[in-house]
Parts: sequence; structure tokens; C-alpha cells
Amino acid sequence: MSIQKAVFPVAGMGTRFLPATKAIPKEMLTVVDRPIIDYAVREAVEAGCETLIFVTGRTKNAIADYFDRNPDLENELEAKQKAEALEIVRNIIPSHVQCIYVRQSEALGLGHAVHCAAPLITPDEHFAVMLPDDLIDGYPVGALKQLIQAHERERCSVLALEQVAWEDVHKYGVIKPANSDLMPIQIESIVEKPARADAPSNWSVVGRYVLSGKIMDILKDVQRGTGGEIQLTDGISQLLQTEKMIGVPLSGKRFDCGNKVGFLEANLHFGLRFLNR
Ligand code: G1P
Repeated sequence: MSIQKAVFPVAGMGTRFLPATKAIPKEMLTVVDRPIIDYAVREAVEAGCETLIFVTGRTKNAIADYFDRNPDLENELEAKQKAEALEIVRNIIPSHVQCIYVRQSEALGLGHAVHCAAPLITPDEHFAVMLPDDLIDGYPVGALKQLIQAHERERCSVLALEQVAWEDVHKYGVIKPANSDLMPIQIESIVEKPARADAPSNWSVVGRYVLSGKIMDILKDVQRGTGGEIQLTDGISQLLQTEKMIGVPLSGKRFDCGNKVGFLEANLHFGLRFLNR
């Protein structure tokens, strides 16, 4: 596979889920029987990524513990002959996949979080960025795999897109398409969380990206933008000045697990699938 590395920015505070997130990271809240982060990680592994880079912060140790082996638990399950449970805990991550943890010491924004992975990415490779809050049941293949397939055809950066209601454009990065009826969509420009009146379209960016490694050099100089944060969207906007970029409309269902309603919907969706197995 052409994309080996995936970056997971997971340093956010999770204030929308307090008090649940007072002692556990929001990425560890469960959808049915797996933490939210597990869904994005499995999507990346299925798409061929072998190096997973987690950009974490304080109070996020549970994420590293979850993806690490737990010999005490494994020994106990083995002794009690709980073969099925043992199989589950041993296979959370395949042995050929490596996890790397980088600390983001200050919450300065998504662009800053992605830049924390800069020492691990070379300028001439493309890499994935996965925002685990966007839990996606991709069809017929996972969302990241859809992006990687487009990247392999076009050899450029690729953004996952979804058309949203116009009253919701202010919640997203929004692109200006050069051609709205041809696929893939050529991206002309991008803006972070525009007011409805200023939005160049209602094609919003979903939390899956395949980006040129050259964005790292750009991100180191991006200034604070929307919401006073260093925005990934502003880095992408500069990358567009020198490189072609396309958008792929997402095929599948997306749940915004960054808010309670989306999180509950994801639990209903995957819960019904679990009940109907
Ligand atoms: C982030 C990005 C935004 C993107 C969104 C997708 O925003 O900044 O461009 O559209 O994720 O979920 P956030 O949801 O972190 O505010």
C-alpha cells in the first residue's frame, strides 16, 4: 500500500462529555464494546497503514495502554481457559503494526497537533490524518481506503468530503470545487468554518485526509486562525498554492462522536448490527 503512516490527533480535552471524560480520554468512550479510537485504528490498519502515530496529551495514557499488550491479563485469561476473550485482547492491533506516541504539550489546534508528528514524516511521502471523532462506517470499503485508492490513481493529496446542510457549513472546513459535477472533485480553495454567507460551497471536509509530507514545512509557520487555533485547513490552503489536490465524496455513514447526539447514533447503528448478528 502506498500510505504507510497514519496520524491520530487525540490530545483534545473532551469537555462536551464531562463528567465522563474527567478521568478517561473521550477517545476511550465505547461504541458498543470498543472504544471510539479503535474504529479509526482498525480502518487505518485495514487500509494498509503500518505505523500509527498518536498525538496525545496529558490524561491520555489509557490510549497507549489499550493498544499495548497486557501480559498479566493475557496470563490470567489463559489460566482460566477463556480462549475467546484472550483472542480478542491479543488481536487489538496486528503484530506488524507499530504505534508511536508523540506529546502535544499545548492544545494550540489541529494544525499544531499534526505538526507534532513532523519528525516522523518525510517531505516526499504522503500520509494519512484520521480524526477519530468522525466515526465512519464506510461502504463498500473503509473511508481511508477510499481515499488511498483515489491517491493511487491521482498521486496527490486527497480530502474526504460530504455535502452538509447549508446551516451546518460553519462547523467544518469547506472547499471550493473547481468542477462540481466531475469526479474526483478538483479542489480550488478551502476555508475553515465559514459563515453560511461566505461558504464557497456546502462540500465539507470529513476527518480523513491523505496529505503530502510537504505540509509539515508549511504547518510550522501557520499562524493562529479561526477560533484562535493553528488550523490544519490553513496549512492545506497554502499547500494548494503549489500542489494539486482532490476531494472524494465519502461513501458510507459518518457519525460525529464529538457530540452526544452523534455518539448515541453511532451506538444505535453499531448496536443494532451487533443485535442482528
Ligand atoms: C476539524 C477540522 C475541520 C473538519 C472537521 C471534520 O474541525 O478543523 O476542517 O471539517 O474537523 O470533523 P473540528 O471538528 O475539530 O472543530
